[in-house]
Amino acid sequence: MKGIILAGGKGTRLYPMTKAISKQLLPIYDKPLIYYPLSVLMLASIREILIISTPEDTPVYEKLLGDGSQIGINISYKIQDTPRGLADAFILGEDFIGEDDVCLILGDNVFYGQSLTMSLEQAKKNLPQATIFGYPVNDPRSFGVVAFDNNQRVISIEEKPQHPKSKFAVPGLYFYDNRVIEIAKQVKPSARGEIEITSVNNAYLEMGELHVELLGRGMAWLDTGNPEGMLKAAEYVEAVQSRQGFYISCIEEIAWRRGFITTEQLRQIGEGLEMTEYGKYILSLVEELNGL
Ligand code: TTP
Repeated sequence: MKGIILAGGKGTRLYPMTKAISKQLLPIYDKPLIYYPLSVLMLASIREILIISTPEDTPVYEKLLGDGSQIGINISYKIQDTPRGLADAFILGEDFIGEDDVCLILGDNVFYGQSLTMSLEQAKKNLPQATIFGYPVNDPRSFGVVAFDNNQRVISIEEKPQHPKSKFAVPGLYFYDNRVIEIAKQVKPSARGEIEITSVNNAYLEMGELHVELLGRGMAWLDTGNPEGMLKAAEYVEAVQSRQGFYISCIEEIAWRRGFITTEQLRQIGEGLEMTEYGKYILSLVEELNGL
């Protein structure tokens, strides 16, 4: 299975912060925002990853993450000239996806919680059925909103509805089989001129091939699209990390726990970052293993 991170966009709601730099390069507490969605793909055991971003920002992502070999994965890059919409990921990613299934995650989505790995595994098992997720939010009007009948079957998905039929927003994490490429190519631009992921999901819904996995209250899905969301996400990460001592979305730790890199490789990365709390955390994982 392949993974795509969509990390372009204009980030207008974060101006002036994002006037000269991509949103997903901004920090959420102690690491760049893109580490969070990247870690979700790695938790799903996806090691072939495409990062899509703007012409200006793509070289910066390359500088940050390289070819991914340092964390035992394979990262490639693709430029999106203009933000044509989320479904554009499958058109731009056609060659990268090849004959495979694909998971798309939006570069500004932060997920954290004990049941996350299980939900990701479940989504992979559902293939060739597509899986999207449903997450209860107080005001779902600025999201895709999914509604169910009494048997928990999906009856509709609406993009940013004025009168939502449920409180379940659709987070930016989607699993599809290979048909998604052709489906995305058929999508007509919406009134706001974008090829919408909701149109892709509705195509799967019409074929009877869309599964919605509900994320429970133990899961955090944090929106980082505006300054308040960014601050709250940073506070959340800081609170969990300092209280529990477990880091959220430390990509080196995940690579090591998933067996993508050896303990020796992890130690070397930790030593290179020794001057930071982040590096000390990585070294503490090695020391714990050695019983120090
Ligand atoms: P949005 O939050 O919808 O758009 P944006 O990031 O440009 O922000 P704003 O609304 O403040 O202008 O995008 C969601 C995510 O998808 C975000 O990580 C950027 C990314 N994206 C792309 O990479 N390409 C696109 O064509 C679109 C629409 C979004």
